Amino acid sequence: MDLVVVSNRVARGKANEPMTGGLAAALLPVVEKSGAIWVGSSGRVCDGSQSEPFAEVEALGTGALAMFDLPAAHYGGYYEGFANSALWPALHSRSDLIRVSHEDYLSYREVNAFMARALLRFRMPDTLFWVQDYHFLALGAELRELGVSEPIGFFLHTPWPSRSVISAVPHYRELIQAMLAYDLIGFQTEEDCENFLSCVRVELGLAVCDGVVVSRRGRTRVAVFPIGIDAENFMRAAARAITHPEVSRLRKSLNGEKLAIGVDRLDYSKGLVNRISAFDRMWTNEPALLRSVSLLQIATPSRGSIEAYGNLQNEVARLVSDVNGRHGEVDWTPIRYLNKGYGQTVLAGLYRTAQVGVVTPLHDGMNLVAKEYVAAQNPADPGVLVLSKFAGAANELDTALMVNPHDIDSMARAIAMAVAMPLSERRLRYEAMMDRLRAHSIQQWFADFVGGLRDAQADKASVEPLLPDSPTILPQHPAHSGARLH
Ligand code: F6P
Repeated sequence: MDLVVVSNRVARGKANEPMTGGLAAALLPVVEKSGAIWVGSSGRVCDGSQSEPFAEVEALGTGALAMFDLPAAHYGGYYEGFANSALWPALHSRSDLIRVSHEDYLSYREVNAFMARALLRFRMPDTLFWVQDYHFLALGAELRELGVSEPIGFFLHTPWPSRSVISAVPHYRELIQAMLAYDLIGFQTEEDCENFLSCVRVELGLAVCDGVVVSRRGRTRVAVFPIGIDAENFMRAAARAITHPEVSRLRKSLNGEKLAIGVDRLDYSKGLVNRISAFDRMWTNEPALLRSVSLLQIATPSRGSIEAYGNLQNEVARLVSDVNGRHGEVDWTPIRYLNKGYGQTVLAGLYRTAQVGVVTPLHDGMNLVAKEYVAAQNPADPGVLVLSKFAGAANELDTALMVNPHDIDSMARAIAMAVAMPLSERRLRYEAMMDRLRAHSIQQWFADFVGGLRDAQADKASVEPLLPDSPTILPQHPAHSGARLH
């Protein structure tokens, strides 16, 4: 298949290497089997004097991995700046944390344009380009500027917020217009998709018909493709990982005590302060749970040079220390708090060891930790997932114990309830969730999107060229079988 997948962060094919993000870990197993070329950032920068951007290329499964050094003059403004200080807070409905400057926006556009030029070397007559995530909202438009007419798709791994929130980013109109250069745009949930289409209708005044937007750039199909995992594979990995030395050490240290686990990037969208406050409340309200349940919280540092992340790191560390000081004993630590990343293999074993998985973000595109926790469980004696209703995963994993992460008291009660839940109820909830995970695998997600991109291109070819941004009535188009269209 002539597929080029593009994302800022890429992953090398090693299950034991720590991975900082859901996207890279999720894409790795499918990209390596697809024969695609996966293009991303090397994490290094270049001074821009080279005539050809430098790429480190290595084999990845039946395809290849190409990592580019990004231009030094724009990297900070692109990554720490516009992508993670303007777009990320806006996409996670934290307008209060938006820090934006026109220089950062220009750097963001420069890096998108740089990546477009870099991609040309992988272009073949019928290449499909599939761009991932908010780092590259304008990459499709930059490719079109360079004359690329092949299908280009885009998938957003984060939420897309309401109109009033996204409009806090001064360049939002320009960016949405640029996004309409894509043939297919995929979102995690119906709500994200609706929010985006509402921007298109109201802010750009464009017609949307049967999930298709018509603009001067042509037709863009907009649909929902909830990302999945390879549940069977994860289940097997978890069963094997039980004997991994790190996992065995954890099991031994528990002495019959129950364990709750949280695994997150250290990010304000993950609700860590509220979660730890809920454990604090639980131990205060139900002292019988002291020494009988503890929390293992893995919080992998990320984007540390951004002020909001530095502040969060300090706040969480202080809170953990307060809670441990308040409830700990000479021979018992309520919260084990680790600031490092783990590979998928060890994580699978840690999930299986824990009787409760706590995934309580304030806002999250999907949250694959929720899915992985469920898949890692022992079917004969599964643990309980405590899940925020604001994670995209809540749409599918609706037999988890659902919580509102802003309501500390009820979250405390839900965790206590999870600890005490009888086996029969645990199994019922687990089996229903496993059915969902099996039905929506990562392989299916990948195939649905690529199929949808081909269909979108075929539709495009069958329609007359359009007048510039005129309101248009479109014929109905059948949905691609795997996607729910709007
Ligand atoms: O969905 C957002 C995402 O792209 C995920 O892959 C991951 O959770 C995170 O952002 C990665 O962030 P970074 O590459 O900045 O560590």
